[in-house]
Amino acid sequence: MYNVRKIQDDIYWLGASDRRLEKFENTYRVPAGMSYNSYLILDEKTCLVDGIDYNVAQQFFDNLEYALQGRTLDYMIVNHMEPDHCAIIPQLVQMYPHMKLIGSMQAFKMMNQFYRFETDSRSIVVKENDTLSLGKHNLKFITAPMVHWPEVIVTYDETAKVLFSADVFGCFGAMSGNVFADEIDWEHDWKDECRRYYTCIVGKYGMQAATVLKKIRNLEIEMICPLHAHIWRKDFDKIISLYEKWTSYSYEVNSVAIFYGSVYNNTALAADILAMKLAEKGIKNVKVFDTSKTDLSIMLSTAFQYSTLVFAAASYNAEIFDTVQHLLSEIKNHSLANRTVGLIENGSWVPTAKLLMEKQISTWKNTVILEPKVTVKSAVKEDSLAELEKLADAIVESLEK
Ligand code: FEO
Repeated sequence: MYNVRKIQDDIYWLGASDRRLEKFENTYRVPAGMSYNSYLILDEKTCLVDGIDYNVAQQFFDNLEYALQGRTLDYMIVNHMEPDHCAIIPQLVQMYPHMKLIGSMQAFKMMNQFYRFETDSRSIVVKENDTLSLGKHNLKFITAPMVHWPEVIVTYDETAKVLFSADVFGCFGAMSGNVFADEIDWEHDWKDECRRYYTCIVGKYGMQAATVLKKIRNLEIEMICPLHAHIWRKDFDKIISLYEKWTSYSYEVNSVAIFYGSVYNNTALAADILAMKLAEKGIKNVKVFDTSKTDLSIMLSTAFQYSTLVFAAASYNAEIFDTVQHLLSEIKNHSLANRTVGLIENGSWVPTAKLLMEKQISTWKNTVILEPKVTVKSAVKEDSLAELEKLADAIVESLEK
């Protein structure tokens, strides 16, 4: 049975949600599930804008059949060739043998890598600012390489003033009928997941995403239709200004997030003492995370959110405690920059974590490591307590007033 929503006179949302999915990309936990959006434009020619993941294929095909109202499918735009949007292309090609596929050169290269059907006779390769008329609707294609794969384009419907934005402005989480961002309490219920999605999926490619933002800033937009989660038809600045922050690796919260890895709670206590000292010095919204227990993507997302990060790690097998090490690698892999960092190490015979953390963090762009870097020998004693006090002072001094 179909479950579609008309979003404009002749544009339909054909998406579906997967609430059983444990991890998106088999990597990032999605406790609230995942949504996949696909759109259909009914004009003189019919045009599908992107597809969905295989897990929700049956719902998609029911939706498509209903929305087409007995018509055939003339075009499918492949803005993004990742399987969470393309898994059903081989079936669509069989169902609609005359359908033309529209995408970048790279998209067709990938299509030939993923699938076995013949693409040459069906492909329309588009470049920057190429256009296609469906009759009334005039579509313009805008390249968006590396947001989040190299083949990505976004499609601007010049007639309806709709931007089909691919992964840009997406979010983790299943939708519940309210497909528009103005039908939910986005700020309260979705903003954090939107940041986590951006950080995990697009975060590495901030520079490329910023380029796309610049291109779309000049467009007259009445609706933004991403491939995951809610459609925007008002308050565009709310999401675009956040994206401008995220893509430039600027912080949202001028405060301190402390991430510790602790074997016997002594490093944890050092982290908590630092947090308390910061609170006593008037710093609000301090957060402390046990890296052994907290989902990595939540910590990564918080690192993007906060101005100042403190890493407190036990030395472990002459290395950095492994969950702190994993977090540092993920932050580096996602190209986070422009942060202030504090360091705390612990070690009972030869502490090693501090030097190793410093070596890694010094490769992050425009990142300052504060003094002192604190060493705890087994447990916090008066000497390390005094060093924590000094680190708290240095952090307070470094925060933007
Ligand atoms: Fe939603 Fe990059 O795929």
